[in-house]
Amino acid sequence: MAKDKTIYTCNECGGTSPRWLGKCPSCGAWNTLVESVAENPASAKNRFASLAPASAVATLADIEATDVQRTPTGIGELDRVLGGGVVEGGVVLIGGDPGIGKSTLLLQALDALQKQSLGARHAAGPPQGVAAPSGGSGPRAAGKRGGDTLYVTGEESGAQVALRSRRLGLDDSQVKVLAEIQLEKILATLSAHKPAIAVIDSIQTVYSEQLTSAPGSVAQVRECAAHLTRAAKASGTAIVLVGHVTKEGALAGPRVLEHMVDTVLYFEGDTHSSYRLIRAIKNRFGAVNEIGVFAMTEKGLKGVSNPSAIFLSQHAEPVPGSCVLVTLEGTRPMLVEIQALVDSGGPSPRRLSVGLERDRLAMLLAVLHRHAGVACMDQDVFVNAVGGVRISEPAADLAVMLAITSSLRGKALPKGFIAFGEVGLAGEVRPAPRGQERLKEAAKLGFSVAVVPKANAPKKNDKAFEGLTIHAVERIEEAMELARSLA
Ligand code: TYD
Ligand code: MG
Repeated sequence: MAKDKTIYTCNECGGTSPRWLGKCPSCGAWNTLVESVAENPASAKNRFASLAPASAVATLADIEATDVQRTPTGIGELDRVLGGGVVEGGVVLIGGDPGIGKSTLLLQALDALQKQSLGARHAAGPPQGVAAPSGGSGPRAAGKRGGDTLYVTGEESGAQVALRSRRLGLDDSQVKVLAEIQLEKILATLSAHKPAIAVIDSIQTVYSEQLTSAPGSVAQVRECAAHLTRAAKASGTAIVLVGHVTKEGALAGPRVLEHMVDTVLYFEGDTHSSYRLIRAIKNRFGAVNEIGVFAMTEKGLKGVSNPSAIFLSQHAEPVPGSCVLVTLEGTRPMLVEIQALVDSGGPSPRRLSVGLERDRLAMLLAVLHRHAGVACMDQDVFVNAVGGVRISEPAADLAVMLAITSSLRGKALPKGFIAFGEVGLAGEVRPAPRGQERLKEAAKLGFSVAVVPKANAPKKNDKAFEGLTIHAVERIEEAMELARSLA
């Protein structure tokens, strides 16, 4: 097969070069040239020729707003992050550390979808519209197709996938498996079988003959993902791409991958603990920052529908350096224990945080020193969110600062203590979104003392907060003073 010409395109400015260079000749950026397929000069000329007939444009109000068709996977926590289910022609990218459970979850989801469609077909009698005429196989026609599923594995053999499915208890699974890594063959199979949903595990193993670079390289990943995305849109097949993450935790391959797809999901959590979180980073068909919570069991991943208390470690008595935070993940409040350890450090003390932003930690330490007179200049400071959760909301500030001071003083916060609230550079404590819901969850779980921003304190005595003594603070000094008096 004749290879297309390749050129090198700059990631920054889009400039091109016929061969690889360390420095982009157009913008001077370093290490930004990546290999891509050169456009055929003839087709470029045709592009201008075809400019002639203008296309009709429509007014937004005249375009019918069709709702997207979703198929729930039947795995509740996955549907929650997807925004209700898989969408026809939608492309989902799912990333996460190796061994966290990406393949397991997707196999479970495919099997559930396959069972649903078989059930539906039995109920509806003989299959309808299975062989949709090739001309009219738009997304709508695709919806009436049988809900077949295809699992394309590039990392494992069919036998290994079968072994996993047995382990999951899916002994008579009807999910179709294809062990293939060549893009052209995968595309051909997709168009021949027209599955309702296909999983590509993983996009880093797929390679296209059109490019000379190795599978997993930026050029290959981008090119293959672009082709698969186009195939999904054209045929109505929903495609799930499994992506590897780099050591830094970002999806390996170009950032453009995230722009190309409709939904980006990340697996979080500690591979040593059994809980796994899936977070939606981007979702064209639903809310972002929604999370799904799973527990890894002997028989695969099981959804945890009431996860509010799983990220608390069980201390018999309160210990110094620990403060429980009520965080809001998507639509659900969750209680997460924040732990801090402050210990005398060397000449250049260390600041380390797990699950929280390190820059934010540095800022909070400065605010603590300036406004509350708590100095950690010569101390190592370590902060950790228990259970491998990643907390990005600033409402964690107050709990982090209380945990740090508690560790520094060696005094535990009282039993049943929770806190939340954002802290500003001027030392003010700002309200967190949906404070009442957070307080309700804490009261429900039997917590008894809360330190919260003034604006979040409930106005009147509400039954929902019974048993919870709520202290409202406006400034960080007040919060520190209060913690000292309560301890
Ligand atoms: P896997 O889905 O292969 O991870 P990924 O595709 O993200 O790399 O998950 C593998 C891990 O999950 C492995 O360490 C074993 C564990 N596991 C269970 O604990 N129970 C199970 O039922 C299965 C299938 C896997
Ligand atoms: Mg895998």
